[in-house]
Amino acid sequence: MSLDIVILAAGQGTRMRSSLPKVLHPVAGNSMLGHVIHSARQLQPNSIHVVIGHGAEKVRERLAADDLNFVVQSQQLGTGHAVAQAVPVLSGDTVLILYGDVPLIEVATLQRLLAKVSPSQLALLTVELPDPTGYGRIVRDSAGQVRAIVEHKDASEAERAIKEGNTGILAVPGERLTDWLSRLSNDNAQGEYYLTDVIAMAVADGCVVATETALDAMEVQGANDRRQLAELERHYQWREARRLMALGVTLRDPARFDVRGEVSVGRDVLIDINVILEGQVVIEDDVIIGPNCYIKNSTLRKGVEVKANSHLDGAIMGEGSDAGPFARLRPGTVLEAKAHVGNFVELKNAHMGEGAKAGHLTYLGDAEIGARTNIGAGTITCNYDGANKWKTTIGEDVFIGSNNSLVAPVDILANASTGAGSTVTQEVPQGQLAVARARQRNIEGWKRPVKLNKT
Ligand code: UD1
Ligand code: CA
Repeated sequence: MSLDIVILAAGQGTRMRSSLPKVLHPVAGNSMLGHVIHSARQLQPNSIHVVIGHGAEKVRERLAADDLNFVVQSQQLGTGHAVAQAVPVLSGDTVLILYGDVPLIEVATLQRLLAKVSPSQLALLTVELPDPTGYGRIVRDSAGQVRAIVEHKDASEAERAIKEGNTGILAVPGERLTDWLSRLSNDNAQGEYYLTDVIAMAVADGCVVATETALDAMEVQGANDRRQLAELERHYQWREARRLMALGVTLRDPARFDVRGEVSVGRDVLIDINVILEGQVVIEDDVIIGPNCYIKNSTLRKGVEVKANSHLDGAIMGEGSDAGPFARLRPGTVLEAKAHVGNFVELKNAHMGEGAKAGHLTYLGDAEIGARTNIGAGTITCNYDGANKWKTTIGEDVFIGSNNSLVAPVDILANASTGAGSTVTQEVPQGQLAVARARQRNIEGWKRPVKLNKT
């Protein structure tokens, strides 16, 4: 089967009250349209066509990719008209219609739908709704066969009583679609070319209309305003939380946990409340993440512990290493196994060897730190001279005293030590102690200043 996918995304979305086109509004950190494209790709289609209109340039700019063909519908004359804009470039035997503002549609549902389409059969995704107001209704004959879809505004009282609604998502034999679309009229309550009128035409042409049902209403729910957007967000998060729990993650509270990207997890992972995982996050077995942590594009190897209120972006934490509370690991941070980063420590483009430690109040930027080295509290690498960044290299088993300024570029060789309060500007040879601070002077008989008399 060769498949073409058409995603409708030309509508305005007035109720969002936004300068951002509706389909670019985010759910879980990705635009609604981005979610739909992601699902579409997993079906491995021949081609994907996105029909754009309102905010077309912004949409194209944001989502441009080699495998996407953007088709502009300059006037929104209806869903049938929108699909017709893409039809001249379609060649597959099946055309699947999706919607840029229906982001939670599941690949498995679409696969079930596609399994039902053939040259003489359409497949329609429907949903049972307690209150289908606004939806097209699925009209069936006494044998239960679909005869037509009637839009809410065109429906009779009896038709409005039907609870089975049209999700809008359908798969059609490609060969016939051009003909059906060319015969649509806009003689209806909304003066639009309805895609849904294709159903009655197909039936008249002797096609069977098979149906498949959505798992739940949220899967096929569109977002027209920010309230619905928030509902989709919550539903997405709940789905993601359930997926992770099924894989062996304990979430202290699934309602206070957010994923905005792709997360892979091992077993016996424990995630406390208010954790946000963003981008590509890899979490191996036995990892513990404390409350209020933000973790983006990072890898946490087996047994890592990230303590409360830590912020990670582009970090790799090796087996059994730990960070926090209040740690900040910026891009390029690599902690080898058992390395320890404590509170109020910031790392950027820094590599800490196995078992190395930076326990408190430290900034390590553009730094290489050897195994088992200890960095004293209050130490900073002075990696920036106002124009360029320079590297600090610290060997294995080094002891850096408290409150050091390590002025890069500088090398501190293995087994060296530095005294507290040192400003290190030169190489420290292997095994030696560097003390680079003013010597203490005690002044005998020192008199404290006395307050002047104001008269
Ligand atoms: C449509 C269906 C209805 C279904 C409902 C589900 C039709 C005629 N009706 O109604 O049966 O129950 O969806 O939500 O298809 N769009 C374009 N270009 C256009 C018009 C629409 O790209 O010219 C896009 C919109 O951006 C939107 C989607 O198509 O994403 C649906 O359009 P909308 O006008 O919201 O259709 P509904 O009236 O909701
Ligand atoms: Ca709609």
